[in-house]
Amino acid sequence: MPNKNNEPKNIIGVFDSGLGGLTVLKHFLDYLPDYNYIYLGDNARLPYGEKSPETIYEYTREAVEFLFENGCNLIIIACNTASAQALRKIQQEYLPAHWPERRVIGVIRPLAEHFANPKFKKIGVIGTKSTIEAGAYQMEIKKLSSRHKVLEKSAPLLVPLIEEGWAQKPETKMILKKYLHTLKTEQIDALILGCTHYPFLLPEIKKIMGKNVIVPDPGKVIATSLKTYLDKHPELKLKKISAGKRQYFTTDNPQLFQKLGEKFLGQKMTKVNQVKISEL
Ligand code: DGL
Repeated sequence: MPNKNNEPKNIIGVFDSGLGGLTVLKHFLDYLPDYNYIYLGDNARLPYGEKSPETIYEYTREAVEFLFENGCNLIIIACNTASAQALRKIQQEYLPAHWPERRVIGVIRPLAEHFANPKFKKIGVIGTKSTIEAGAYQMEIKKLSSRHKVLEKSAPLLVPLIEEGWAQKPETKMILKKYLHTLKTEQIDALILGCTHYPFLLPEIKKIMGKNVIVPDPGKVIATSLKTYLDKHPELKLKKISAGKRQYFTTDNPQLFQKLGEKFLGQKMTKVNQVKISEL
């Protein structure tokens, strides 16, 4: 494939396997409102968390391609699973060959930097099967500090329950309690919500873990780190504008996306467009 020549249009792309990334976009819109954003949720192929690394890479590559073709200068892969399984290959192989002037960043590094802090000793992580099997947080935190103990636990049932609009049901709370049990017994100091969907359960998670465990909203941490990244990379030519535009795309039902998405985002959405990103 040759290099792509279409010009970037001063837009930040945010990608997730589904609706969960809206919990990250929400903080970008609060903290960095003066930019244009395109959000893409690959709802039709969710969950990524149960798929093979090869499949996750292919899906993520197609999403990145779509967002760059639609004018994004920079893409944030909000999805932890895609960040864990596909980001490195996208950055090291796909970008240099096809979009050498553009950038793709993920969410694991900024969260690891935030948590690799001397005030924490034992850090818990919950995420999808794939993120936990990749040991993504474990590895990233170890690169920054050898003193931290990282305990990881996969929580595969939470994403489908949340996408189904079941976040507040007693069944979900019961399952959540079961997933958090070991981490609670281990007396961790802080917990990383290593999946874009989990902030929807933040109050319940905090309640279960108790006052002594710090559980930050990952979107806030990622938004702060995005600001630092933008300040350090003027070559991306992302300019602030007073009325930043927002565009929303999903690969599945746009009505459903909008209905649940507005809950995730905490605000009204403009029109949601359905798109096909798969080459198959
Ligand atoms: N968005 C994914 C993440 O942050 C979870 C959903 C999925 O399994 O596709 O890991």
